[in-house]
Amino acid sequence: MKVLITGGAGYIGSTIASCCADNGITPVILDNYSTGLRVFARRFDHYEGDIADAALIDRIAAEHPDIDAVVHCAAMIVVPESVSNPLAYYDNNVAKSVSLLRSLTRNGIRRVILSSTASMYEPGEDFMVDESSAVRPLSPYAASKHMVERVLADSAAAGELQALSLRYFNPIGADPELRTGLQNPHPTHAMGKMIEAHNAGAPFTVTGVQWPTRDGSGLRDYVHVWDLARAHVAALALFGAPFEPTHTTINLGTGQGTTVFELAEAFGEATGTPLEVRTAPPRDGDVVGSAARIEKARRVLGWEPERSVADGVRDALAWAEKLPAVLEEEAELKAKAHSKAHSEGQQ
Ligand SMILES: NC(=O)c1ccc[n+]([C@@H]2O[C@H](COP(=O)([O-])OP(=O)(O)OC[C@H]3O[C@@H](n4cnc5c(N)ncnc54)[C@H](O)[C@@H]3O)[C@@H](O)[C@H]2O)c1
Repeated sequence: MKVLITGGAGYIGSTIASCCADNGITPVILDNYSTGLRVFARRFDHYEGDIADAALIDRIAAEHPDIDAVVHCAAMIVVPESVSNPLAYYDNNVAKSVSLLRSLTRNGIRRVILSSTASMYEPGEDFMVDESSAVRPLSPYAASKHMVERVLADSAAAGELQALSLRYFNPIGADPELRTGLQNPHPTHAMGKMIEAHNAGAPFTVTGVQWPTRDGSGLRDYVHVWDLARAHVAALALFGAPFEPTHTTINLGTGQGTTVFELAEAFGEATGTPLEVRTAPPRDGDVVGSAARIEKARRVLGWEPERSVADGVRDALAWAEKLPAVLEEEAELKAKAHSKAHSEGQQ
């Protein structure tokens, strides 16, 4: 089986690519390197460009006529940026996805897995959500993902596509073999801040301690990125059956809510050095959070998360140590790519 992974040079897409390759599925990467790394993409057949570049999609399809499906990870993902610049998000995540789907279907590629998000859910009283729970996207980012799900659902209803929208909860960790991981050295989420605090020997600040959770801090469902990747391999296996134009949404989490205080505790246990914790008021846009009910993923995908929060902490820390060398290599590759493009432009 061969699969096109858009955004395959990003954190999650590159991990999916490794997991596919480990399981006998050949990945082909399409990425514009706006946040993704060339170092991640070059391990496989790869194309630099935009998902909305119809001529490029035609070229990829012509060069790989055996592509069976697409895993569509490419997107802009920073929530506050989406609030300040919604048009950029609706353009990149929605309009360009529509263009991509038109190019794919024109080339006979009709099976799609979408990287979707659990951030579109409105958490109920016990913070647990299943796929039928109320959806109320609070940011342009979450709304953009909800819109693409709708596009897929309508296209499936018209017989054009078979699609799975996988709603990820909070990915943590890195490829356990450390081939890839989070490429941003200064992530703003809780785990990133904990790593920064740990490395600096500084306290970690829990922002927002008045939520109606068991200890007042926000609650998330931290799912190891390798488990997420495994779920995509399971989902691709479903495409082995005859084409059936349907759209299905599936939660990917662990089924366990972890509060920020609990994450800090697990972090300290994994490193062997307890993290000193301080508290502060919530930041703008903070939400109480939710955790996944994952019966549907078990039933439909036959998937079960295997890795713990402690595994995620250990892999994230090991990757953070490796990252500076990876980014140096990336800078060299980028400089080479630019000088090649410059000299081709002059010819
Ligand atoms: N990281 C999370 O917490 C999280 C949670 C839920 C869902 N998701 C979804 O997972 C997907 C991957 O997220 P990630 O964390 O790996 O982010 P990322 O920024 O590491 O990856 C996104 C990739 O898409 C590429 N890209 C963006 N726009 C493009 C375009 N127009 N054409 C070609 N390439 C483009 C970027 O260069 C990057 O490599 C996204 O769709 C995101 O919405 C992420």
